[in-house]
Amino acid sequence: MTATPETPLPESPLPEAPLPEDRLPENPLPRDKFLWGVATSAFQTEGAPTSDWAHWKIADAADQAARLRGVGHHERTADDLELVSELGLNAYRFSVSWSRVVPRPGEWVQDEVDRCVNIAVTLRQKGIEPVVTLHHFAAPAWLAERGLDWTEDAFVEEFISFATRIVGALRGTVKIWLTLNEPNVHVSGGYLGGMTPPGKTGLRAAHRALVNMLRAHARLYTVIHGLCPGAAVGITHNMLPFRPDRPDSFLDRRAAAILDRLYNQSVLEAFRTGRVTLRLLPFGRIAALPLVGRLDFLGVNYYTRAHVNFTEFHPSRLGYFWEDRTGRGLTETGWEVCPEGFAEVLRAASSLGVPLVITENGTAETDDARKIAFMRDHLEVMQRCRAEGVDVRGYFWWSLLDNYEWLIGLGPRFGLYRVDFTTLERTRTAAADEFAAHAAGRSGTILGDMGETSSTSDQPVST
Ligand code: FCB
Repeated sequence: MTATPETPLPESPLPEAPLPEDRLPENPLPRDKFLWGVATSAFQTEGAPTSDWAHWKIADAADQAARLRGVGHHERTADDLELVSELGLNAYRFSVSWSRVVPRPGEWVQDEVDRCVNIAVTLRQKGIEPVVTLHHFAAPAWLAERGLDWTEDAFVEEFISFATRIVGALRGTVKIWLTLNEPNVHVSGGYLGGMTPPGKTGLRAAHRALVNMLRAHARLYTVIHGLCPGAAVGITHNMLPFRPDRPDSFLDRRAAAILDRLYNQSVLEAFRTGRVTLRLLPFGRIAALPLVGRLDFLGVNYYTRAHVNFTEFHPSRLGYFWEDRTGRGLTETGWEVCPEGFAEVLRAASSLGVPLVITENGTAETDDARKIAFMRDHLEVMQRCRAEGVDVRGYFWWSLLDNYEWLIGLGPRFGLYRVDFTTLERTRTAAADEFAAHAAGRSGTILGDMGETSSTSDQPVST
């Protein structure tokens, strides 16, 4: 077993004094106020010409255009926020574009920061709780040009410095923060499998990147609480149940267990014990970080489950596949529809002992009836888990609009509003009506009744 000595990075200085006593926010995640929201990310809705994703493995001209402007959210921000409001939601998750705020070394684009402050203020005026993600995959291209990525301490410093200034600008308006989106997905795509920027491969790079991301979380936890007393600070975690392809095969079961440990458990274990490992076998690299107690809630992102066959198993490709084994068909991204897996991950996540917020759940379907069925089935599972005592405090549908899907492009339709990818016109769908009905505490009215599912949605659940 090799232990990696971790030199603790110095804590960032906490600028200025905390908010005056009379402006201290109340608990932003109370049990009796369930958050019903939609989630978006900056790059996927507005693109970013100065980001590492802007020119990464471009498929064609349309793909390139989408990386630069997304689905036009930057120009249509006010109208899009109105769309959130029209859904009657009380929460909205968005991310700050690091590469638009810091497009070149040493440059700080205050207009972009002011735009984010305006988004948060506008949401509050509409009675909608802003939930801000500080890192959602894309990073400034100039860092990559200097050879910097999450394996390097200098990259961590740049991110902490950006994030600290953003928190300083938004404090007083934003109470719920997500430091990072899905470190496990970011690390598997960009550092283990090499499919996404920076395109690295190998367990060593992956472990280093994961350690540095979680280190950044630990430091930002302190920074945010220093600047925003009473804030709730979380992280999102993509959870994917792994099933042995052939349940009676010992090797398939072992491979599924290894993937579960790498993909799902490594992050949970890090917050439970402070130990960050990425182990294929019972030994491997371990780092110790001050993570215990530095998580006010866990954001769970759930879409599907995966099947694992040992013969195709390879750690760097992760080696899993999707197949329709529940009889509900595959989605437009080829993912199996599996609400049962949602219950499994919620129970596993709740073992951390912090409140959960479902920060992403959704499906790419052009057919509204299929999208609505997915929504109902997953909301029903969530409500059952809540009734069992799983402490879920919010549910965010991915996504408000059809948008740019990483590695796929403009195609999969995750939105409650349909986007015409040529004119960028937005059209409300039946799935939007369905979601609005759930958020309003009513049963779905479009395709029938959900029974008692919605009626319990606003009730605190005693655990
Ligand atoms: C998640 C990402 C999100 C979106 C959905 C479909 O893993 O966090 O940005 O792409 O998948």
